[in-house]
Amino acid sequence: MLIDSHCHLDRIDLKPYQNDFACFMHEAEVSQIEHLLCIAIDLESYPAMLDLVAGFQQISVTVGVHPNVQDCKDPTVDELVVLGKPDNVIGIGETGLDYFRSEGDLSWQHQRFRNHISAAKKLKKPLIIHTREAKNDTLRILKEEGAEEVGGVIHCFTEDWEFAQKALDINFYISFSGIVTFKNATAIKEAAKKVPADRFLIETDSPYLAPVPFRGRPNYPTYVRYVAEQIAELRGAPVNKIAELSTKNFYDLF
Ligand code: NI
Repeated sequence: MLIDSHCHLDRIDLKPYQNDFACFMHEAEVSQIEHLLCIAIDLESYPAMLDLVAGFQQISVTVGVHPNVQDCKDPTVDELVVLGKPDNVIGIGETGLDYFRSEGDLSWQHQRFRNHISAAKKLKKPLIIHTREAKNDTLRILKEEGAEEVGGVIHCFTEDWEFAQKALDINFYISFSGIVTFKNATAIKEAAKKVPADRFLIETDSPYLAPVPFRGRPNYPTYVRYVAEQIAELRGAPVNKIAELSTKNFYDLF
């Protein structure tokens, strides 16, 4: 059985499923996806996301505002704590820093990140971290805010082994997405070989970043199998073992 530890179910293309979410979830079950973590991007679309997944026991959610979302309602720590209280909300994020898609004075991004860490600590729930071209500041803020206390996951890992080690040191897991299947992803593949067996997760980040052989096309949680297969190949382990480890690691963290 597999777990997709990071997907955006309110954004996947349901056309192949007659626009029927239940029909898609049936396919996920047939594909042996035992659990899905549906990740929040902003608060405006959050109620609709909750409505979509309501009633599906195999779906958990997070709450947070993505670092690239601008011109939106920025949540206070208290608001995040209220929204993060329910039992099916198992993490805070995705949050973090992105210097690739956002430019200029990014003090708002830093403050938003700090607020998410603070809320996660109050709730004692792990963080889902997005970081792009901002690894040093990401680590610095995680340390300054004491994020080690709750830990979490560096989602859609795109850095190198050196960064992975520093994240592991402060109680974070490393999650690999379809990018690990890309031919030129040398540093990511190296990290996938070296990360301890009890500290990695797998994800799709669907509908984005489809793995090979679907690269460039819409992504689905069912494709998490391709991520598991790539990691199995890199580590010289059977894919069933990778499925078992990543599933256990998910439940250990959340
Ligand atoms: Ni995401």
